[in-house]
Amino acid sequence: MKRYGDFTAVRDLSFAVQPGEVLGLVGPNGAGKTTTLRCLAGIIPASGGQVSIAGHDLAIDPVAAKRELAFFPDEPRLFDYLTVRQHLAFIARIYGVADHASIGEPLLEEFEIADKADKLPGELSRGMKQKLVIACGLLHSPQVMFFDEPLTGLDPLGIRRMKDSIVRRAQAGAAIVLSSHLLHLLEEICSHVLILKQGAKIADGTLAEVALRYSRGEAGVSLEEVFIRATGEPAT
Ligand SMILES: Nc1ncnc2c1ncn2[C@@H]1O[C@H](COP(=O)(O)OP(=O)(O)OP(=O)(O)O)[C@@H](O)[C@H]1O
Ligand SMILES: [Mg+2]
Repeated sequence: MKRYGDFTAVRDLSFAVQPGEVLGLVGPNGAGKTTTLRCLAGIIPASGGQVSIAGHDLAIDPVAAKRELAFFPDEPRLFDYLTVRQHLAFIARIYGVADHASIGEPLLEEFEIADKADKLPGELSRGMKQKLVIACGLLHSPQVMFFDEPLTGLDPLGIRRMKDSIVRRAQAGAAIVLSSHLLHLLEEICSHVLILKQGAKIADGTLAEVALRYSRGEAGVSLEEVFIRATGEPAT
């Protein structure tokens, strides 16, 4: 649960994501997606409840939990006076990643910012900054990843590459939670989906399970249609 003062932004939310799974967190604006991801990542304290990251309780052993996770916020924050490559070196030092160049340089290639390695954030486009933040977050090879709208603002090729990067890490055994409004893209990435409305879970399960629940007898209902049917119904 998360309260901001008297306002309850997220309540009674419980779910688990296994290694290899990608959970799509969806819901209308203000449903509590960002709040949920921030609580899971330990950026803001939850107002109750428990978060376990790769077996580490986030409240009891935050350092061990945070070592296993990466959180990618919707608004990338960078250091104004560090170049792209210096960002990787700095983050690697914080996380104690020994041979950062051998991990960092392929990440720059993977996210197509190698040619900007000596540029400062002010010299990067929005999408490039987003890619740099993601490269930095992947340096310590996290097993649990929380992405808040990682596909928004990327060009079509960038979206495809980001999708591939996410799916590849899930296939390698990472547990991933991803929020997005780009439902047709989520359908291609996610194994599972959780629909939030006004801070409460209204549906979750595999894509097929959730589609079936809102199918109204039709076959092949899209996630977009599921979303509209699920969130359009009166709250129960
Ligand atoms: N720092 C804060 N203080 C008070 N209320 C907040 C704070 N952050 C978020 N909220 C409220 O909590 C609710 C959930 O916000 P949140 O940002 O988690 O939504 P979201 O699902 O991520 O929405 P979006 O799709 O627009 O990104 C909203 O009603 C919002 O106004
Ligand atoms: Mg949000």
